[in-house]
Amino acid sequence: MVLSEVQEARTLTGLREVPRIEALTLGDVEGGLALSDAAGWNQTADDWALFIQHGRALGCRDAAGGLVATAAALPYGAEAGWISMVLVAEGWRHRGLASALMRECLAHLQAAGALPLLDATPAGAAVYRSLGFASGFGFERWQSSGQGDVAIAAEPPRLADASDIDRIASLDRSATGLDRRFLLESFLFRAGTRAWLSADTRGFVIAREGRRATQIGPLVASGAGQAIVLLGAALAASKQPVFLDVPTSRREIAAWLERQGFHRQRPFFRMSLGAAHPPVVGERSFALAGPEFG
Ligand SMILES: CC(C)(COP(=O)(O)OP(=O)(O)OC[C@H]1O[C@@H](n2cnc3c(N)ncnc32)[C@H](O)[C@@H]1OP(=O)(O)O)[C@@H](O)C(=O)NCCC(=O)NCCS
Repeated sequence: MVLSEVQEARTLTGLREVPRIEALTLGDVEGGLALSDAAGWNQTADDWALFIQHGRALGCRDAAGGLVATAAALPYGAEAGWISMVLVAEGWRHRGLASALMRECLAHLQAAGALPLLDATPAGAAVYRSLGFASGFGFERWQSSGQGDVAIAAEPPRLADASDIDRIASLDRSATGLDRRFLLESFLFRAGTRAWLSADTRGFVIAREGRRATQIGPLVASGAGQAIVLLGAALAASKQPVFLDVPTSRREIAAWLERQGFHRQRPFFRMSLGAAHPPVVGERSFALAGPEFG
């Protein structure tokens, strides 16, 4: 490593050498995708572009200029912000890169007075705990291993379009407490995205294309019965495989997913820093937007 690469991050991590932290640009989308692909994640070029354009996406490079570590902070309104895309290439782990990038993301959100939130893999949770994050509810990523036998509902949901954005953003906000209209808008405008509103317009679900699988979520509903009807519509119209992230407390949804041939892929924890109480599942949240978005 050349000396010019070792800058302010060193002061954040004691004497260990850490490459300089830089803001990512749209020219880094490919490098970001290479890191998320290597970790087996599902983010697309659209997702990386969204972190870069709407949030503060940071990274470190090797001597040849290749991206070797990333993290991003995405503000959701004035009160909260999401931290994600914490990725370090295998040969660069355990040098403090994730911790240094996280500290920069935290400083960005805290300067704006926003509560830092994130969804952690077990490996990530070890890093975040050492930075003071507390664990809230758990959830599981479910993966389909075949097309199930989805029943037709008496009052089927209707396909939603971009003109439903106000309703969808307001349902999402009431379920999560987060203002993430720009994110939902981005999902709805992407090629391959489909969304449904329940017949009583009190629930919705979005299915978007990922790198490895269709991601179903967020799913907001007035109860488990409505959630299952919405899921059925999304699943029947989705390309395989499908991923969805369901709070562990949603046992009816887990039982239904098992009957549709889904299996559990991996666990996550929602974490927050400096909140009065650890995060809890919103009463009307049945599937999340994905750990990168909450
Ligand atoms: C998790 C990950 C980001 C950690 O990156 P890193 O740069 O190695 O992390 P740091 O060097 O800042 O680690 C700080 C401390 O966290 C803990 N830690 C880091 N990775 C850990 C792991 N896999 N298991 C247990 N503890 C771990 C250790 O205490 C570590 O200090 P140490 O290296 O002195 O032992 C990296 O392993 C990675 O990219 N994994 C795959 C993607 C992933 O799971 N990202 C997190 C998503 S929430």
